Amino acid sequence: METKQNTYYIFNYGCQMNASDTEHYAGQLEELGYAPAEDFRKADVIVVNTCCVRESAEKKIAGKIGELKNIKIKNPDMVICVAGCMAQKDGEKLLKKHPQVDLLLGTAYVNDFKSILTEYLAERKGKYYTDLTIHQSEFEGKMVRQSSFSAWIPIMYGCNNFCTYCIVPYVRGRERSRAIENIVAEIEQAVEEGYKEFTLLGQNVNSYGKDFGEKNAFAKLLRRVNEIKGVERIRYMTSHPRDMNEEVIKAVAECEHVCENFHVPFQAGSNEILRRMNRGYSREKYLELIKMIRSYVPDAAITTDIIVGFPGETEQDFEDTLALVQEVGFDAAFTFIYSKRSGTPAAKMEEQVPLAVKKDRLNRLMEVQNLSSLHRNKELIGKTVEVLAEGPSKNPAVWTGRTRTNKLVLWPAESRIYNAGEKVLVKIDTAQTWLVKGKAVQDV
Ligand code: 5AD
Ligand code: SF4
Repeated sequence: METKQNTYYIFNYGCQMNASDTEHYAGQLEELGYAPAEDFRKADVIVVNTCCVRESAEKKIAGKIGELKNIKIKNPDMVICVAGCMAQKDGEKLLKKHPQVDLLLGTAYVNDFKSILTEYLAERKGKYYTDLTIHQSEFEGKMVRQSSFSAWIPIMYGCNNFCTYCIVPYVRGRERSRAIENIVAEIEQAVEEGYKEFTLLGQNVNSYGKDFGEKNAFAKLLRRVNEIKGVERIRYMTSHPRDMNEEVIKAVAECEHVCENFHVPFQAGSNEILRRMNRGYSREKYLELIKMIRSYVPDAAITTDIIVGFPGETEQDFEDTLALVQEVGFDAAFTFIYSKRSGTPAAKMEEQVPLAVKKDRLNRLMEVQNLSSLHRNKELIGKTVEVLAEGPSKNPAVWTGRTRTNKLVLWPAESRIYNAGEKVLVKIDTAQTWLVKGKAVQDV
């Protein structure tokens, strides 16, 4: 009789760090002999990798976990594992509310999943792992990366900033940096497997190495990764304006493979709101930083994150945000409505802003930002840019890829067959808010 192959299915939510964690879960499951399931209802193991940064994410995920209840009733042998930030935050409460959940895996246990699952299968007893004080194990096994040419590389875990709106420090713990030799070894291995683009991940990458007591370790890391043969593009996420310094900007300017894209979340344009957010910089300091970036890397794309409706945000405070967006001229911005996260200092602040006001501010902000994005994209018209091909668009005759500045580019493939990860030169002739279009002029 043929034995049935065990299968797995992963639902992933949240940031790039979660996307990376999911690749680690998939790798460990495949090492245990599991294959991806086509239908999650029939999978032997389901992992829900969760996010709790905003209430909207939590609601969506709670709905998904709820949906698994009936599936588990029909298939009681299935293992349901809730992993990531919600598992970390809600712990046992989550197990009580959702009895269909078998395993709870906090954020510090990603690389121990294989042994935890093996142990669980032997005993079949509900387990939770949510200690945040352990040091993340180094990953040694197989990895199932989603892309064939672009790799996520975690360089540090956790966050020490404690911005007053943010839940992350409570669910990802204190900053722990990976040793530089482990990061370099992982990238070298990925290069051998054909990877070309590397995104160094951390909640605050500019703090990399501070826990080793090393100064300017992130700038040094950029320079070291830049030397690895076969690395074509280096990106990194996310930076904190307070810790982003001249050394990092210089490294970006001087390293051939580090992309000219600065993602520097400013969150709010009013000094009073920045103070209440515990951001550790003023609007003036932020503008100085932007000036410094532009002086070293004039063609850089600058992107940001912005929150509207933080407690106590007045119309004038919000207008300070709008004015800053206009003054900087960001290439793109991720804009969010403030979401109250219980356990954070801002949740207890009085003067919570009504939802209708928050929504109105978000719309006004997006209008200003969209014009800025379009304006920045129009500056590319007539220019020839280096694109790393990603894949065909919905229309298979049109290919997509990204510039070094991380702009989405579309161009007609004509009769050419492109490969993902291939460099293509595209002359831009059309600009829209979210993308630019052009024609391939020649191969690099
Ligand atoms: N409400 C709204 N947005 C938030 N962010 C983080 N916490 C909250 C919150 N409570 C946003 C910040 C951060 C991005 C990843 O998510 O802008 O930079
Ligand atoms: Fe969501 Fe933050 Fe956790 Fe990422 S680190 S998954 S954004 S809560």
